Amino acid sequence: MLEAKCFPSHAAKARTSQWGTHDPVSNTGRSVWGRPISQVLAVRDLKTVFHTQDGIVHAVNGVNFHVDEGELLAVVGESGSGKSVAMMSLLRLLPIPPAEIASGEVIFQGRDLTKIDMKELRQVRGARIGFIFQDPMTSLNPVFTVGYQIMEPLRKHMGLSRREARKRAAELLDLVGIPSPEDRLDDYPHQFSGGMRQRVVIAIALACDPNVLIADEPTTALDVTVQAQILELVRELRQKLGMAIIWITHDLGVAAGIADRIMVMYGGQIVEHASTAEIFADPRHPYTRALLDSLPGRHGRDQPLSSIGGQPPLLMTAPSFCPFQARCPHAFDRCLRENPPLEQIARGHDVACWLHVPNAEARHDA
Ligand SMILES: Nc1ncnc2c1ncn2[C@@H]1O[C@H](COP(=O)(O)OP(=O)(O)OP(=O)(O)O)[C@@H](O)[C@H]1O
Ligand code: SF4
Ligand SMILES: [Mg+2]
Repeated sequence: MLEAKCFPSHAAKARTSQWGTHDPVSNTGRSVWGRPISQVLAVRDLKTVFHTQDGIVHAVNGVNFHVDEGELLAVVGESGSGKSVAMMSLLRLLPIPPAEIASGEVIFQGRDLTKIDMKELRQVRGARIGFIFQDPMTSLNPVFTVGYQIMEPLRKHMGLSRREARKRAAELLDLVGIPSPEDRLDDYPHQFSGGMRQRVVIAIALACDPNVLIADEPTTALDVTVQAQILELVRELRQKLGMAIIWITHDLGVAAGIADRIMVMYGGQIVEHASTAEIFADPRHPYTRALLDSLPGRHGRDQPLSSIGGQPPLLMTAPSFCPFQARCPHAFDRCLRENPPLEQIARGHDVACWLHVPNAEARHDA
């Protein structure tokens, strides 16, 4: 059993910076400092395109979402649905060009991250919003010790002395469950196993006590046992540190185990969003249902797994029809002509599908 030990600097005080304070969250609906839990990040109408020789790739098409303090939002969808591009756009981590953030706002602590200058953005990256990249093994530099790589952001963003940074780096390794942390600081990445390297990457992302942690498929390359350990660790860290987490995965089963809410993406859009319980109890979008049907064990042992036929959309045209229409068993004429907006169908449950528009008339041509 992993133990996520919380070092005093995280647990005992809220730290104030020009980017605000970060409060651990209690289970009372308020932060432990008595403030109501609130949105820490809000994204509005985010559109990201790639300019390629073959034309424009419409990778992210008008995405709206928020994440609250202390909650875990899972972003689920098959390969190419826009999960990574959407989240990398938040911190402008994509190469521009060929990428372009065509529109949208990313509001973090009262500022729009799409508009602030690079100097300010660098203060947010790695310090206030931690990012674990899809291929975490390449995030570690093989020529520097693990200790150096954890200490670097501590010295750069938090102004710690070498001695303070080393102490804190050891605390971080301890926090993510690496035995003999003091000794391991002087080791190089190749001296760690895959699972341990993953923990180091998480330690670096947590180093500056971020308000938000974005983790892009961080367990995909790991074996099932290590994956379960990392997920358990994230559950514990979240409780102890109270940060908001955005967890990208193609696996609804993983999301079920850790997420408060799930956002399902398809063709660069959010097609369904609800609490984890609601997504599993009452999925409404045909794509979400298909994803659930492909989960092992969902329909009992004797039922064969179903797979989703057809191919994801190529995204070479602006979305003027439902992105799922070519694969949807319920598609009808309107689906081929208009792209359904994401509409609330119940409190906290949004769906983008003409089958679920509020009045029956709208299911047919407008
Ligand atoms: N550099 C690029 N140039 C052109 N198109 C790109 C580029 N990077 C991503 N895309 C396209 O953007 C779309 C979204 O890609 P993204 O990487 O966000 O998918 P994903 O949901 O993260 O998939 P995966 O599960 O495989 O990681 C895809 O159609 C992809 O081909
Ligand atoms: S809008 Fe039409 S094609 Fe799209 S998911 Fe709904 S029924 Fe299927
Ligand atoms: Mg990805």
